[in-house]
Amino acid sequence: MPDRTGPDPRHSNAHAAVYDRGRPPYPQVLWDRLGELGVLSAGTRVVELGAGSGQATGPMVSAGATVTAVEPGPALAALLQERWPEVTVHVGTAEAVELPDAAFDLAVVATAVHWFDLPVVLPKLHRTLVLGGHLAVWRTAFGNPAAPVTAFRERVSQIVARRTQAPGRAGPGETDTASWVRRLTASGHFVTAHVEEFAWTIELTTAQVRDLFTPLIVMRRSAGAR
Ligand SMILES: C[S@@+](CC[C@H](N)C(=O)[O-])C[C@H]1O[C@@H](n2cnc3c(N)ncnc32)[C@H](O)[C@@H]1O
Repeated sequence: MPDRTGPDPRHSNAHAAVYDRGRPPYPQVLWDRLGELGVLSAGTRVVELGAGSGQATGPMVSAGATVTAVEPGPALAALLQERWPEVTVHVGTAEAVELPDAAFDLAVVATAVHWFDLPVVLPKLHRTLVLGGHLAVWRTAFGNPAAPVTAFRERVSQIVARRTQAPGRAGPGETDTASWVRRLTASGHFVTAHVEEFAWTIELTTAQVRDLFTPLIVMRRSAGAR
């Protein structure tokens, strides 16, 4: 079983439009760094796994990359395809999708690696990447532990704590970067090239915060329903 440290992935699909509205984009510094590292530029052939509605896909298309996106949620995949018709979209899981050998320069996993069965997915990515190809994995973690605690943040922490305590979702926490690096390199299919954490700020409206958490709240309630 894959390790699970978040809500059931089917819920983001069931609430695709709400999810899409609430999900924040990634900061420009991330895209700048991928460019500086020489892993993403015009013409890069990218396979993105767990692409959702395309928060990471769009900037890669804008950078001139050719993107193949894999997303199991049909509603999310449809949103992505509508927005970026030039992307090749596979509706399916990272575990089940068939990818050609040595076809991509870069594999991207944005806030989705916690869902994957890594012993299945890592060898597959190794095969589908060219020699010298890269796997870039990143994740948004909400709440800077160094920032002052406000009533709002306290309430969000309570909600997040309830969510991560759900049974069957063991695995490193979202800020436990060292453990994720160990997991991603343990099989020997990949070695670490670069690890970095970015602290950044985004202002969300009340409606966006509600959208961001709505699928989580629905997920909690259905877990106990008969
Ligand atoms: C938090 S969302 C991130 C979406 C997008 N990459 C982003 O950065 O906003 C996680 C995504 O992973 C997808 N997912 C869950 N399990 C998956 C699996 N086994 N294979 C591929 N994608 C999966 C979910 O459907 C969801 O769209």
